[in-house]
Amino acid sequence: MRFFVVTGSAARQKTDCAIVGLHESAAISGAAAQLDAVLGGRIARLVKLGDIRGRAGEVTLLDTDRGPCRRVMVIGLGKKDGFGRKRYQKAMATAAAAVARTGAHDAVSYLSLETVAATDPYYRARLAAEALGHTLYRVPAIRSKRERAEPPLKSFGVAVAERDQKADAERGLHHGQAVAAGTALTRDLANLPANVCTPTYLAGRARELARSYKSVRAQVLEERDLKRLKMGSFLSVTAGTDEPAKLIVMRYAGARAKDAPIVLVGKGVTFDSGGISLKQPPGMDEMKFDMTGAASVFGAIKAAAEIGLKANIVGLVPACENMPNGRATKPGDIVRSMSGQTIEVINTDAEGRLILCDTLTYARRFKPAVVVDVATLTGACVIALGAHLTAVMSNDDDLAAELEAAGRRAEDRCWHMPLAEEYHEQLKSNFADFANACGREGGAITAACFLAKFTDGMRWAHLDIAGTAYLTGAQKGSTGRPVPLLMDFLIHRA
Ligand code: BES
Ligand code: MN
Ligand code: ZN
Repeated sequence: MRFFVVTGSAARQKTDCAIVGLHESAAISGAAAQLDAVLGGRIARLVKLGDIRGRAGEVTLLDTDRGPCRRVMVIGLGKKDGFGRKRYQKAMATAAAAVARTGAHDAVSYLSLETVAATDPYYRARLAAEALGHTLYRVPAIRSKRERAEPPLKSFGVAVAERDQKADAERGLHHGQAVAAGTALTRDLANLPANVCTPTYLAGRARELARSYKSVRAQVLEERDLKRLKMGSFLSVTAGTDEPAKLIVMRYAGARAKDAPIVLVGKGVTFDSGGISLKQPPGMDEMKFDMTGAASVFGAIKAAAEIGLKANIVGLVPACENMPNGRATKPGDIVRSMSGQTIEVINTDAEGRLILCDTLTYARRFKPAVVVDVATLTGACVIALGAHLTAVMSNDDDLAAELEAAGRRAEDRCWHMPLAEEYHEQLKSNFADFANACGREGGAITAACFLAKFTDGMRWAHLDIAGTAYLTGAQKGSTGRPVPLLMDFLIHRA
C-alpha cells in the first residue's frame, strides 16, 4: 500500500473513492458538504429520507457522474460527543473493509479532518494507516483451495486541513505503515500452527529479518549454549520435548553504539501443553498462541527497522515447547536458574516465568536502559482484565506510567497492577529459594513477583498479554497486540 497526504477541497481531489464522515443528527459539513455539492445534494436527500443517519458502522456508497472522484463513501460516526481515538479507528476500519469490497484502486479519507479528542494530524494519520493495515490483514490460512483474490486497493490518501500539517501527517503515515507491517508479522507468526512455528522456525524468521534489514542482526543460541550459560530454569521447560529450544537474539542498531539499548524480552513457548501438569483439552489448541510475546518482539524489531528509529533495541526470545515426555520436569523438581537462585517447580504449567527469568538474567549483559518483557503469562490476568487491557507490572512506577501513556496514545491500552511484598510471600518454598507457582489468588501479580526476583538493579516492566494477544471463538486469531503500544513507547523514547 502506498500512503499519501492530501490538502485542499475534496471537490477537486481526483480519487476512485472519497471517504467522508457524518455524525448522528449533525449537519453535513466539511468534506461531506463539498462532495454533496458535487453530487447535486444526493447526500442531503438521503439524510432527509432517513437512509443515512450517521450511526456508527453505517456505510453508504454513492457513485458520481461529475467531478474528479468516482465514488463517495459516507461513514456513520455515531454521536459527536466523545468521538475519540477508539471510535475514529473503528470508523477507519469500517471504511477500509468497505473500500476493499469495491473495485477502487485508490481512496482518500477525509475522516482525518474530523474532531477526534486528544489527537493531532500525526496521530490521525498514523491511526488511519494502522487501522487500514489491521483490517486488510489476511490470516495465512492453510487450505486446499485457493482463497478469494486480494482487494484491488493499492494507494490510500489521508487529508489534512492545512498545508503546514502535511509533514506531521506524512510522518504519521510512515510510522503507522511501519507499525502495521510489524503487527502483521506478529499476527502471521502467532497464527501459525505449532507444528510449523517451532523454535527452529522462529530462529529462521529472525535470520530472515536480519537479511531484510541492514540495521538488524540475529544470533541464535542452541541448547549447548544455554547449558554453558547455566540456564537451568529455561532448560527444565524444554526437557520434555524432542524439539530443540533456542534463545534468539535480535539487535536493531539505530543509535550510536554506546547508547544503552532497550531490551525487549518475548515469551516464545511455541506450544504449551502444560507439561506433566497437563492442561485440560478445551482450548488447548489456543496454546499455539503462547509465543505471541515473542512474535510481538519480532514485530517491534521489524517496525523499528521500517521506521529507522533512532534507538538501539535488543530483542530476546527464549523459544521452546512445553511437553510431557519421559524426560520432562516433574512437579516438585528443583532447578537452578542462571542467576544462581533455586526454584521448586510446583507446577510445570507455570513455564513462562521459568524461561523468562533466565532470559532476564541474560539481558543484564546488554546494560539496558530499560527491559520490557511481553508474555501470555497467566490465565489469572485474563480473569482480572479480560480481553481488553494488558496488565503492566514494574519495579519502576514511572516506567509503568510511560507504558500506560503509550497504550492510551496508540489505542492499545494497558493497566498498572501492583507488586507488593505480601504477594512475594505466596511464592515461599520449603525446599528451594522460592516456588514457581502458588495459590490462584492474585495469579497475574505473583507471576510478575517471580520475574521481579531476577531484575534487581534494572529498570524493568512486564506486560501480561494473556487476555489481549488473541481472540477466541469464531474470531480466533492473533490481534497483533501489544505491537502498537510497544512502538508508541519506543517512538516517544527515541
Ligand atoms: N500460557 C499460560 C497462560 C495462559 C492461560 C495464557 C490462558 C493465555 C490463556 C501459562 O503458561 C500458564 O499455564 N499459566 C498458569 C500458571 C499457574 C499454573 C500458576 C495459569 O495461568 O493457569
Ligand atoms: Mn503454562
Ligand atoms: Zn504458557
